[in-house]
Amino acid sequence: MRRAPSTTALALCARRSYPRYASSRVTRSTRSTSGKLNAPTANGTGQQPIPNDARSAEDKAARIAKLRAVPLTLAAITAFGIGLYGVQLWVSTTRAADTSVAGPRTQEELTSVYDQTAATFDAEVDVSEWLMGIKGQRRRLAEGCAGHVLEVSCGTARNLGYYRFGDSDGGVKSLTLADLSVEMVQQGKQKWFALKSKGELAGSHKGVPVRFWHGDVKDTMPPPPKDEGTGKIPEGYDTIVQSMGLCSTDEPVELLKNLAQHLNPKNPESRIVLLEHGRSYYQWWNGVLDSQAATHASKHGCWWNRDIGDIVRRSGLEVVHERRRNFGTTWIFELKPVVRQTADHDGKSSGEHGTAGNGWSEWLPRWTYEKICKR
Ligand SMILES: C[S@@+](CC[C@H](N)C(=O)[O-])C[C@H]1O[C@@H](n2cnc3c(N)ncnc32)[C@H](O)[C@@H]1O
Repeated sequence: MRRAPSTTALALCARRSYPRYASSRVTRSTRSTSGKLNAPTANGTGQQPIPNDARSAEDKAARIAKLRAVPLTLAAITAFGIGLYGVQLWVSTTRAADTSVAGPRTQEELTSVYDQTAATFDAEVDVSEWLMGIKGQRRRLAEGCAGHVLEVSCGTARNLGYYRFGDSDGGVKSLTLADLSVEMVQQGKQKWFALKSKGELAGSHKGVPVRFWHGDVKDTMPPPPKDEGTGKIPEGYDTIVQSMGLCSTDEPVELLKNLAQHLNPKNPESRIVLLEHGRSYYQWWNGVLDSQAATHASKHGCWWNRDIGDIVRRSGLEVVHERRRNFGTTWIFELKPVVRQTADHDGKSSGEHGTAGNGWSEWLPRWTYEKICKR
């Protein structure tokens, strides 16, 4: 005959399977009021059937235990990711600079790297952007864009899901995305259709023109589409956005100057907003960036050791806001053109957009600069 399990054994068993508050209830129910062990029951195990309220308490406890496991698992994954990233950084810090790599320098060379890596670009940068909080920065940058918006060096259009479409509540009236790499533009187009079909675009995009343009953003770019309200083509864009673009062009200062030429001179609120990466506040970190710069550029088409602050300063644009994150390697700027007063034919003075400081364009009339100097 099978012996009924002792109270101690039952208590231990219950303690192993359930959280503390549930186990004491189960143990008590196996004793009669006289303190003797209960006789074998109908199911032959000697255990009393567990009452319903005890069962639901057990279920609840099991559910709580499961829920507690979720943050622990997430914390473990995050710790693993940070650890892995740390190891990668450590390896690159300790590795000697590879002087045999020249790295792409011309616009053609840089663009060819992007043409080759376009299909895997998103997967490659996803984790590091998440760890560095770049996704949040992209959201803040794109959410602040209004009117006719031009995104230059758009790549695979990673900001697309964050724009707030729709003119009625001060959002995006039209969006033009420009890039020199055909393959990157292709990825961007696919992202547009994917986000649209999944309903993952913010605001109301119906009736908002969204265009992709393939070309060099240091050259003349198309104007915004016809404005529905005025029936006219605006003279320029209200907002020009660029994220992670100054690292990937051969002439970053010229690029910024050219953007200023594409802002709407009639809109005093028109802005260039940048989210860039480059040199750090810390010299030891800049040493790491410098030592691996050519290797990184060959692989990714981007020079990660540029002094973004210096590039902005040399562009002659006025800094409205500037912020830095991630040891100073993430640079966020809001810029506007310097407005110069020029005299009209009839002697009245009027404002004109431009960049400050550099040579002929500063004092020659605009048409002279456009017609003669820019050639
Ligand atoms: C590092 S990727 C960044 C892409 C995207 N803006 C982002 O935030 O993920 C740089 C992009 O700038 C583009 N680019 C670089 N120089 C350019 C130029 N002069 N004209 C147009 N696109 C350019 C490259 O083709 C590439 O797609």
